Amino acid sequence: MTNPPESNAELQQMVRRNLWMHFTRMSAYTDSDVPVIVRGSGPYVFDNHGRRYLDGLSGLFVSQVGHGRTEIADAARRQASELAYFPLWSYAHPQAIELAERLAELAPGDLNRVFFTTSGSEAVESAWKLAKQYFKMCGQPERYKVLSRDIAYHGTSMGALAITGLADIKYPFEPLPPGGIRVPNTNFYRAPDFVADDITDFGRWAADEIERAILREGPASVAAVFLEPVQNSGGCFPPPPGYFARVREICDTYGVLLVSDEVICAFGRLGHYFGSARYGYQPDIITFAKGVTSGYSPLGGMLVRDAIMEPFTRGTATFLHGVTFAGHPVSAAVALANLDIFEKEDLLGNVRAHEASFRATLEKLYDLPIVGDIRGDGYFYGIEMVKDKNTRATFSDDESERLLRGFLSTALFDAGLVCRADDRGDPVIQLAPPLICGQEHFDEIERILREVLTEAWQRI
Ligand SMILES: Cc1ncc(COP(=O)(O)O)c(C=O)c1O
Repeated sequence: MTNPPESNAELQQMVRRNLWMHFTRMSAYTDSDVPVIVRGSGPYVFDNHGRRYLDGLSGLFVSQVGHGRTEIADAARRQASELAYFPLWSYAHPQAIELAERLAELAPGDLNRVFFTTSGSEAVESAWKLAKQYFKMCGQPERYKVLSRDIAYHGTSMGALAITGLADIKYPFEPLPPGGIRVPNTNFYRAPDFVADDITDFGRWAADEIERAILREGPASVAAVFLEPVQNSGGCFPPPPGYFARVREICDTYGVLLVSDEVICAFGRLGHYFGSARYGYQPDIITFAKGVTSGYSPLGGMLVRDAIMEPFTRGTATFLHGVTFAGHPVSAAVALANLDIFEKEDLLGNVRAHEASFRATLEKLYDLPIVGDIRGDGYFYGIEMVKDKNTRATFSDDESERLLRGFLSTALFDAGLVCRADDRGDPVIQLAPPLICGQEHFDEIERILREVLTEAWQRI
């Protein structure tokens, strides 16, 4: 048995020698310490020096019920003692069965079939594979292309990456599977001039661009459109009014599947179990992960409409896809315990009751010259930083590098707030606190952002 490392110096040495962190410039930690988070309690986490941080990003849009919930840990322990593992390949176990039934009850419309995965990328990858096989079985074998929005993030495995709309993170891995087609994103703050005055016109234009892309590609070649209810990458773009109604109409006209990628937006992030329910549209497939377990164990999956499952219920038909740990018994038991907390503590009600005050508290920051746009819904917000509020001028790559990487990310963390300073689109700070948060936490977020953004402006 290895002894637990005692000092920070030892831990840092071990990190530098052996650990490869994700999407991380490892050289940034040659001369400075990697933050080491050792425990969590409610909306707070603590590092190995005993310092406390408000988890303003729920880890990575994950920890809906907050940290340190012993009732979920107990459910995991019980399940691991009873049946730690068995595959969902030709077998089932009670936790996956019960969870599938519960998710189907919560999902909008006839999304009654649950296919489990272990992550969001696997869920997205599975949805594309399902769309392709489904159309082959329905006599439309040419349908393989998928549409998604520019800048949208849909995961990193090769298929999911082909759907992701961020050129910089795709380039090193090209060529990717063919068929990923981009359409405009729904950033009204930076809308093209001809639709910049009216958000409904903008939404109509953005949705119609999907129709134009389908016609351009050839309707018989398009399998699915992948959209998040609120697009995360680029900093929280809620759908313009009428956007999803028009997208649904377009999908129906051309026989294209509408996949709602709810890896972030499901499980209360927007005050509903599913983001599509909040905005009133019916997807053909929902992909989910993250909040389904609040991160106490990994799990993802997709919810599928009865009509899409139907061809797979006949004869020798089989969806030729699977992963070893999908629907893992411990993760399924954890998800059930997580959903019990949602019900017992009315977490959806908490988000709905407080989302207006979360917005109002963040909007106080509009008096700072660097704050250009504050947007989002529920407990999910992006704050776009600008160089000039009046012209909406953004920062150069160099300034963005100095501002985000050189200062903001570390300064916000040092000031006690976990959030994300991101420049995959224009520079934004992303916030997604646990769903148990209330006014005192919003005030803490606002206070820290105010201090750090004021200093950031002085440094520019
Ligand atoms: C909308 C969306 N889809 C897919 C993914 C990929 O999920 P994972 O990191 O679990 O593979 C993410 C991750 O953040 C996401 O936000």
